[in-house]
Amino acid sequence: MFKQRLSIKELTRRKEPISVGASVSWAELIDYLAEHSPLSQSEIHGVNHWSSVIGTGLILSSRLGGLNDDLIRLFGLLHDACREDEGDDPDHGRRAGKLVRRLHGRLFNLGGHELGLLEEACAGHSDGTTHDDLTVGAMWDADRLNLIRLGIIPHRRYLSTQSALGEDLSQTVQEFCSSPPTWAECGIVI
Ligand SMILES: [Fe+2]
Repeated sequence: MFKQRLSIKELTRRKEPISVGASVSWAELIDYLAEHSPLSQSEIHGVNHWSSVIGTGLILSSRLGGLNDDLIRLFGLLHDACREDEGDDPDHGRRAGKLVRRLHGRLFNLGGHELGLLEEACAGHSDGTTHDDLTVGAMWDADRLNLIRLGIIPHRRYLSTQSALGEDLSQTVQEFCSSPPTWAECGIVI
């Protein structure tokens, strides 16, 4: 019998929507990306993947504590938005970093430090390295844990945070593959 996965609210034990630390026009941003991202409708790198990365990142954030959840949401939406190829596309991260700069001030506003983190996270997310900053590390881990949709479980040397190593999280991410989190579950009001 189909077993419904736990919601992100249950998984993160959050009683209230996650607080907003940035000014973001979420609906306009999602509309823009759906229209302009070459693979937005892709099963592998499209909107379902974006929300799964956000959901995974929010769970990591709740375990690590003190992270900027809006950066995690923005990373999920933007990191693969410039992919042009489902396979090898080594510069898609750097194009996403440039997209962050182009959209900043139009569809979202961040402080200088946060903007730098988001740009760095998007630009470097597919280079196979880890990161010491926990927010960037959680973003990259969230994306790498979602390789499970392709049958790939990332080796621990490619993960930046201890929280990403739990088997229970792998199970949850697998469930996201068949039932991606909704925007509302991701704390995105559109
Ligand atoms: Fe991705």
